[in-house]
Amino acid sequence: MSYNTIKLEISECIATLTFNRPDVLNALSPEMLGEFHSAVSEIQRNDQVKVLILTGADRAFVAGADIKVLQGLDPLGAKQFALTGQWALFALEAMDIPIIACVNGFALGGGCEIAMACDFIVASEEAKLGQPEINLGIIPGFGGTQRLCRLVGKARAKELCMTGRMVTAQEAFDMGLVARIFSAETLVEETLKIAKTIADKGRVALRAVKHVIDDGFDVDLKTACALEADAFSVCCASPDQKEGTTAFLEKRPPKFTGGLV
Ligand code: COA
Repeated sequence: MSYNTIKLEISECIATLTFNRPDVLNALSPEMLGEFHSAVSEIQRNDQVKVLILTGADRAFVAGADIKVLQGLDPLGAKQFALTGQWALFALEAMDIPIIACVNGFALGGGCEIAMACDFIVASEEAKLGQPEINLGIIPGFGGTQRLCRLVGKARAKELCMTGRMVTAQEAFDMGLVARIFSAETLVEETLKIAKTIADKGRVALRAVKHVIDDGFDVDLKTACALEADAFSVCCASPDQKEGTTAFLEKRPPKFTGGLV
């Protein structure tokens, strides 16, 4: 498929989706949101892709929803806009493959919300993250209040959403929002290295770890551990389990092929 507001590149089982409206710091228009959702579906259907990286063109990841669009919203339109964003992020989150947010610059509002719906965030030293919606008289609408408090705790989430202040990559790292920080010059290369490391693992185990952590997070510990035990058992039905354990015992690197017996 061809897109106007995003770029989608696939190379050696790693897909890179770049938000691409640099004149407005990749602000999310309805068109971009729609194209993003379509691209997520396209990648989900492509079984060659093992890892997805999201990033932004030039000096921003995504600087939020397009404020020109926000200005014209009435309550019905606002609800529709929020739900459209939420559906796109639920679709992203539900993907079976690992997703890395490569935050190269501003990740604000909807940008921070997209990054938080990824499996983890790596950021450039120059990145700035935040939920500044309060400065516009609104609140996050794409799940930001909920994902942020699950990632950093209620008090920090409220402080960020109430002040609207931007945090540096270092502060975001310290509060558990960002997993790794790299210099601006090495961010892309380091992100690709992480993606390749993950792509070399077994597909079944990757899918299991992702869904067990996501699905287990919001339920009680016993139920979550039951999910883990089931997923552990499924992994042991996979040729990758035989390969991983055999390779260790034979003192050689494993070669995972994916699939279930
Ligand atoms: N929606 C629409 N346009 C946006 C935008 C957004 N969310 N964020 C940035 N832009 C546009 C600016 O209006 C400007 O356009 P112009 O060149 O036509 O004037 C261009 O992108 C560059 O932004 P600018 O503000 O000049 O860059 P800066 O480096 O001085 O500031 C930010 C960068 C990110 C701090 C600032 O652009 C900003 O606060 N953006 C809004 C962030 C926000 O509130 N997001 C949440 C929306 S819910």
